[in-house]
Amino acid sequence: MAGTAITHLLFPFIFILILLSTAASRHLNEKLYVVYMGDITSPDIQDYSQTAATESHLSLLHSLLESHEAAEQSLVHSYWKSFNGFAAWLSSSHVEHLSNTDGVVSVFESKNAQLLTSRSWDFVGLPLSQQTNDLEYQSDVIVGMLDTGVWPESESFNDAGLGPIPSKWRGACQTTSDFKACNKKIIGAKFYYKGLGSQPAAGEFTSPRDSNGHGTHTSSTAAGSIVRNGSLFGLAQGDVRGGVPGARVAIYKVCWLDSCSDVDILAAFDDAIHDGVDVISVSIGHSGSLFFPLEYFKDSIAIGAFHSMKRGILTSNAACNDGFEGSVCNYSPWSLTVAANTIDRQFKAQLTLGNQTSFEGRVINTFTMEQPWYPLVYGGDAANISGGFSSEDSSGCGLYSLDRSKVEGKIVLCYLANPTDLPDGGVYVSGGAGAIIMYDPMNDTAFSFMVPATVISSEQGEIVRSYINSTRSPIANIAKNVAGNDLPAPIIASFSSKGPSGITPDLLKPDITAPGVDILAAWSKVAPMSQDPLDKRAVDFNIVSGTSMACPHATGAAAYVKSFHPDWSPAAIKSALMTTASTLDATLDGNGAAELGYGAGQINPLKATNPGLVYDADANSYINMLCSQGYNETSLRLLTGEFISCPSNLSKNGVWELNYPSIMVISNASEPFLAQFPRTVTNVGPAKSTYEAKIEAPFGMNVTVEPDTLTFTSSNQKMSYNVKIESRIVPDDYALLSGALTWSYDNYSVRSPILVYYNVKQ
Ligand SMILES: *[C@@H]1O[C@H](CO)[C@@H](O)[C@H](O)[C@H]1NC(C)=O
Ligand SMILES: *[C@@H]1O[C@H](CO)[C@@H](O)[C@H](O)[C@H]1NC(C)=O
Ligand SMILES: *[C@@H]1O[C@H](CO)[C@@H](O)[C@H](O)[C@H]1NC(C)=O
Ligand SMILES: *[C@@H]1O[C@H](CO)[C@@H](O)[C@H](O)[C@H]1NC(C)=O
Ligand SMILES: *[C@@H]1O[C@H](CO)[C@@H](O)[C@H](O)[C@H]1NC(C)=O
Ligand SMILES: *[C@@H]1O[C@H](CO)[C@@H](O)[C@H](O)[C@H]1NC(C)=O
Ligand SMILES: *[C@@H]1O[C@H](CO)[C@@H](O)[C@H](O)[C@H]1NC(C)=O
Ligand SMILES: *[C@@H]1O[C@H](CO)[C@@H](O)[C@H](O)[C@H]1NC(C)=O
Ligand SMILES: *[C@@H]1O[C@H](CO)[C@@H](O)[C@H](O)[C@H]1NC(C)=O
Ligand SMILES: *[C@@H]1O[C@H](CO)[C@@H](O)[C@H](O)[C@H]1NC(C)=O
Repeated sequence: MAGTAITHLLFPFIFILILLSTAASRHLNEKLYVVYMGDITSPDIQDYSQTAATESHLSLLHSLLESHEAAEQSLVHSYWKSFNGFAAWLSSSHVEHLSNTDGVVSVFESKNAQLLTSRSWDFVGLPLSQQTNDLEYQSDVIVGMLDTGVWPESESFNDAGLGPIPSKWRGACQTTSDFKACNKKIIGAKFYYKGLGSQPAAGEFTSPRDSNGHGTHTSSTAAGSIVRNGSLFGLAQGDVRGGVPGARVAIYKVCWLDSCSDVDILAAFDDAIHDGVDVISVSIGHSGSLFFPLEYFKDSIAIGAFHSMKRGILTSNAACNDGFEGSVCNYSPWSLTVAANTIDRQFKAQLTLGNQTSFEGRVINTFTMEQPWYPLVYGGDAANISGGFSSEDSSGCGLYSLDRSKVEGKIVLCYLANPTDLPDGGVYVSGGAGAIIMYDPMNDTAFSFMVPATVISSEQGEIVRSYINSTRSPIANIAKNVAGNDLPAPIIASFSSKGPSGITPDLLKPDITAPGVDILAAWSKVAPMSQDPLDKRAVDFNIVSGTSMACPHATGAAAYVKSFHPDWSPAAIKSALMTTASTLDATLDGNGAAELGYGAGQINPLKATNPGLVYDADANSYINMLCSQGYNETSLRLLTGEFISCPSNLSKNGVWELNYPSIMVISNASEPFLAQFPRTVTNVGPAKSTYEAKIEAPFGMNVTVEPDTLTFTSSNQKMSYNVKIESRIVPDDYALLSGALTWSYDNYSVRSPILVYYNVKQ
């Protein structure tokens, strides 16, 4: 277990049981390593077959490990399609030896990562009517999903009306006894578990089939077909569909329970790039890891995304669910980092006390209680004393902590004591009728439970407790959910991770935000609705939250843009999404994180198809940025798989000079600064056009743009300008100063957020 970080499925971390799977080691002194042997520059390379690759990897291992058999036992996986390399069990002396072997670019230890809509597409301005007009453009677009697999029988993957599989597709469908076939919607499906170091756990499908729900949900959000009148027990009823309902999905199952190994993530990238996907979606992150923040060259997702970017494929990533400033993950400049926001719908269930006082709790409660009133008891007054539980233990209503004779048939009031020991489990096993859960964080997100339940604040909970004290026979009722569409939105979700990036703080991350709170989409039939293993309710659609749910919205938007502009680079697509994003009202945002929460704003897929200008970049742009940040050739090799030397004449301000669609200055020095941002835009709008710069200067800053008018005479013409930011004030305290630069022509508006961040430690 030593040295393994865990990459998560990006559901909010509190309400799921986090099952840490330990990467078993074969021998005490061996660990799983990825050995990188360079890039394969042509994807069409013919003379490099799998057999040839495996043979060369085995012979290299053989030279290290006396026998061919030992080499075969050590080798876990050969990468050969999009980059050359292998994964193997190795001791530290083998690693040292290999690192100095000809042809080996780098060696790094494998870690584990974890997994962290009906209305949501309307909310971002992409109505069903528009999508159905555009279906035919989408049929050549392939979205690759690295996740927990898929439930293929879900209506969201119905292929009715879809034409033949695009001829560019080179992937495969790995069929097994429990995964019989793909179709014209799910055109590829594979599973990867070599990085687990063992067979998948009991209860998992050793196939692309999803037992978790996460992968089915994300895939259907990105590219699910149109399903009329989908709902969760009537909640959130409407037409459920993905961002590109006419596109195809390719499933790469890399997560088991909720742990995903670097070895498998890289194997899936290797395949997906080669298979011909157009966009890759990864709702997985190395959050909460011992190694956080991970350097780009130690992060399998950043490495995979770099290879995909070089082949013209954008990787869309979830920003993680840790909520606080500086916790953003998946922050590589070549990928799209997606935060989660609320939509205008909220799910509430009313709690009524016997004395007519009532509270509205944020929850998904699909239960209708049979009787109008149930006796009410406080969990702390109902301890399972014979089982050794104290009143303090039972106040959280954890599993087995309650005395059945005191709670059976009653509604139980519970503190949420331990996030891994949820109250509904204890109430459920003890025969309770319902649960009132006191919990203050994440009050913008609705969770579901196995019993009728609602979630109220601890302040409201104290009123319930005093009501219990005030009467001999306290009673209560919990109503079934109602959904209201009246909320001010979008607002960044409290759980959504905020910038700045721990590795490149002056590159604004997250890039963008998308709906990720209370999202309805398809679900695995064997995955418990409330994600509690005791919950036996099987559902076709489920409502869940997370940056995991936001990411596939951005993936769908990117695929939508790609369907109109198949030749655009990953950077151009990302730029189109960012510069056309809808801005958020920072005053609604209880987090106060402004652009550190939402980046350029909320995706607007329709506008992104016609952005006017784009900020383009290629692999060299990112390499130059890294070089200027002091990355040496060893670390660049880890990332790129190539022998790269940095140019000798690089500027020190490489991050500011990266042609990025946002602008950020990070300053904790108590002295004035002058920062310059050279930028180049490419005209993808009308050939003849004249754009004018409009500046909203951050408070206390002088911002100038030179030149402030750009006149284009042809399509794809590039023009450069320079932004200069000079501080007039020096805050002596923490400050987030927001502004923007917008280039306008006719009805085109190309907006880059500007953020000046002072983190003054007194
Ligand atoms: C839609 O679904 C709801 C509940 O699932 C059902 O009551 C209703 O009749 C359905 N409406 C249509 C038009 O199918
Ligand atoms: C009380 O605790 C004991 C010991 O953990 C357990 O066996 C028993 O099932 C518990 N009772 C209930 C009702 O959960
Ligand atoms: C959530 O809690 C915060 C502070 O605890 C409060 O300001 C806010 O109004 C609450 N939001 C909702 C939707 O209850
Ligand atoms: C309810 O009564 C218990 C014991 O009588 C006491 O410990 C508790 O503080 C009371 N709670 C409230 C909110 O009055
Ligand atoms: C119900 O009881 C609570 C706790 O004693 C009290 O705060 C509340 O005002 C009561 N409601 C009514 C309508 O009397
Ligand atoms: C290159 O950078 C890495 C990571 O910062 C460091 O560990 C290593 O010592 C450096 N190598 C050289 C040759 O400077
Ligand atoms: C560095 O040198 C190259 C080649 O000589 C040149 O093209 C480039 O403009 C120079 N870059 C800078 C920042 O001076
Ligand atoms: C700025 O603050 C960060 C985080 O507190 C710290 O690591 C860094 O050294 C500081 N930089 C300067 C220039 O003071
Ligand atoms: C900022 O702009 C104002 C007004 O144009 C000018 O007076 C001032 O000198 C400028 N300050 C700096 C630091 O450039
Ligand atoms: C601007 O308007 C023209 C028609 O007047 C339309 O074709 C074009 O898509 C619009 N552009 C944007 C960015 O909305």
